[in-house]
Amino acid sequence: MSKEIIKIFDTTLRDGEQSPGASMNTEEKIQIAIQLEKLGVDVIEAGFAAASPGDFDAISKIAQRVTNSTVCSLARAIDSDVKAAGEAIAKANMKRIHTFIATSSIHMEHKLKMTPDEVIKRAVRAVSYAREFVDDIEFSCEDAGRSDIGFMKEISDAVIEAGASTINLPDTVGFRLPQEIGEMVKIMSEYTKGRAIISVHNHNDLGLGVANSLESVMNGARQIECTINGLGERAGNAALEEIVMALKVRKDIFSNFETNINTKEIYPASRLIANITGIEPQPNKAIVGKNAFAHESGIHQDGMLKNRETYEIIRPEDIGLVKDDTLVLGKHSGRAAFKDKLSKLGFTLEDDALNSSFERFKILADKKKDIYDDDLRALVTNEMTKATQVYELISLQLMDCSNGVPSAAMKIRKDDTEIIEAGIGQGTMDAIFKTIDRISGFDGTLLDYKVKSVSEGKDALASVTVKVAFNEDEPAIIGHGLNIDTMLASARAYIGALNSYLSMSGKLKKRHCDSEKTV
Ligand code: KIV
Ligand code: ZN
Repeated sequence: MSKEIIKIFDTTLRDGEQSPGASMNTEEKIQIAIQLEKLGVDVIEAGFAAASPGDFDAISKIAQRVTNSTVCSLARAIDSDVKAAGEAIAKANMKRIHTFIATSSIHMEHKLKMTPDEVIKRAVRAVSYAREFVDDIEFSCEDAGRSDIGFMKEISDAVIEAGASTINLPDTVGFRLPQEIGEMVKIMSEYTKGRAIISVHNHNDLGLGVANSLESVMNGARQIECTINGLGERAGNAALEEIVMALKVRKDIFSNFETNINTKEIYPASRLIANITGIEPQPNKAIVGKNAFAHESGIHQDGMLKNRETYEIIRPEDIGLVKDDTLVLGKHSGRAAFKDKLSKLGFTLEDDALNSSFERFKILADKKKDIYDDDLRALVTNEMTKATQVYELISLQLMDCSNGVPSAAMKIRKDDTEIIEAGIGQGTMDAIFKTIDRISGFDGTLLDYKVKSVSEGKDALASVTVKVAFNEDEPAIIGHGLNIDTMLASARAYIGALNSYLSMSGKLKKRHCDSEKTV
């Protein structure tokens, strides 16, 4: 008997990007979309086109790059949103508009200030208008978890009639328990059978996002919305890797179902997103956490040596975690070994990106004896996701701050001109950032600063992530820097944020969602 496909709808680039501190530049979003396509997700929610010209631009670029996954944009049930979504995905091979409006009494009364009839009218209008752009339309009953089931049946009838083929039931505030979600999904999937696919979108406020998604499959859902590493608003969304691996490992229970996911691309996807957002999964996170395959106790290690299955239900290689320590790269490694290693790590680089990554690898190899997989992942991701380099750091000189005034002198290239500038600060980092501000003429506000070591050893690479607001009316920008020297990495991160800001400027606007804020 052929198995039923559970569609995986990935919303890392939309709901995931709504995680505090997870905003990404266009290049970063494109690289993530390419990886999601490799992973085999059925639908990529590439963003919310009406949110800002930057979002629109990223979605339309993704629409042109991705061919094997459906590219989707979110839209409130408002004409201008639907139009922006339709135009952003116009060039996609397979495209979908996802429109939504809240259906719970609390949202309709207090947030929308609309009657149920008005809500139905708005939903129908949005879906009918979306049909002018695409055939594939998803409609979400926002806050379905707290909505009246009779009302959801009524609005579903209306939007299906208008052309929606997927009805999504988000547990927007992550309130429901598996049994309750199961009941809701069962009723709705029986009610809409043969007319629409039922989808779920479970937030993780009570840590139940994945359990609720699996229970939904059991009760008739055939699409699951989720994110890599469980990113998303507040406590995040159900984690894609956990859902997919649960369906695979427990084939005995989910015997009638399969997904189109190539699980070997899970680990590369997780690392890419952690490197880009600077948000590391917690070490004990299921499937992709640093300790997910670490066996610390003697008894466990002994069991593992005798038979891996004593303590391991998933093989690391099944999620693409290659522990190929036989090939540690160093300064004598050539381009072929470098390329081969990258392809084992899941990177396929075009000539220009390969050349620039190889150049950076050589510079690093001069300073660092052994280069590990994590170093390479971080280095290549950093290279591939750089915004256009308006400003480029040439050199940085710091004054000893132990008993003097911390100061930084810098040479920076802008277009073809080299600019030399110096500045002082309360500490060395402050001096560096102020000097960059003097050169650029911006007065950035540093909202967050994180540093972590990429791999082990005293000569480990430092990975610095900064969050900077260059203009108080616009969203803050994330920048990343990578170097053995933490100060240099910090300078690069700040300049990276500046370059992203400049490449997006004119496309940035604060999200203006008034009474219909997305959640
Ligand atoms: O959580 C939610 O309700 C959402 C919808 C926009 C699908 O993200
Ligand atoms: Zn959500």
